[in-house]
Amino acid sequence: MKQLAIIGASGHGKVIADIALLSGYDEVIFLDDNPEVKTVGEYNVLGNRQMAAELAKMSCDFIVGIGNAAIREKIQNEIISKGCNVVTLVHPNAVVAFDSKLGIGTVVMAGAVINSGSVIGQGCIINTGASIDHDNVIGDFCHISVGAHTAGTVSMGTRSWLGIGAVVSNNLDVCSDCMIGAGAVVVSDLTAPGTYVGVPAQSK
Ligand SMILES: CC(C)(COP(=O)(O)OP(=O)(O)OC[C@H]1O[C@@H](n2cnc3c(N)ncnc32)[C@H](O)[C@@H]1OP(=O)(O)O)[C@@H](O)C(=O)NCCC(=O)NCCS
Repeated sequence: MKQLAIIGASGHGKVIADIALLSGYDEVIFLDDNPEVKTVGEYNVLGNRQMAAELAKMSCDFIVGIGNAAIREKIQNEIISKGCNVVTLVHPNAVVAFDSKLGIGTVVMAGAVINSGSVIGQGCIINTGASIDHDNVIGDFCHISVGAHTAGTVSMGTRSWLGIGAVVSNNLDVCSDCMIGAGAVVVSDLTAPGTYVGVPAQSK
């Protein structure tokens, strides 16, 4: 039986569970460090993330379903160091170019498009209906939110977050640890970590 453990019992985790069941997993297990979280949707929470090593011995695969990039990064690295097999998941109704690359722990949600030559790092979230156009380089643990878009030849550093409906114009570089607010339009390089909002996006 093919099992996937999702660390992080949340709405985001439920979306990942759905993708897992559509991708050949027979069972989804949730782990969460908050002892008060007993269920998520139709699922029971089995225990906290200390159970990961034990589940790994039973050939369970893993993914970290936590929106916060720094926490996602910490937990993904921790469970890999304990021998857990972290996988990449792509919704069957996403479109991913054959010559693009996706790192481990990355999830691509329904309706997302990743175009030719783009490289997506580890632990990224390419959320529902988002698009990454050709030849992007998206760093580890980035989140491209629901309905957000990057044009061709964009680069993003580690842990940056493009908010819902935001866009990055072509040939631009966004450095690490940027939060680009909902609906923002990035039209110039973002060279300092921080929060950017508005049209055109400016430091908040
Ligand atoms: C940018 C963001 C992180 C700021 O959050 P925050 O620091 O809590 O900011 P606040 O809500 O306190 O707002 C502070 C000010 O910024 C403005 N602001 C906040 N977000 C903004 C946005 N996206 N665009 C324009 N202005 C924005 C507020 O109107 C407010 O203005 P005021 O001081 O004139 O009243 C947040 O608003 C945001 O856009 N988050 C994106 C969430 C998202 O994309 N989720 C998708 C998950 S798939």
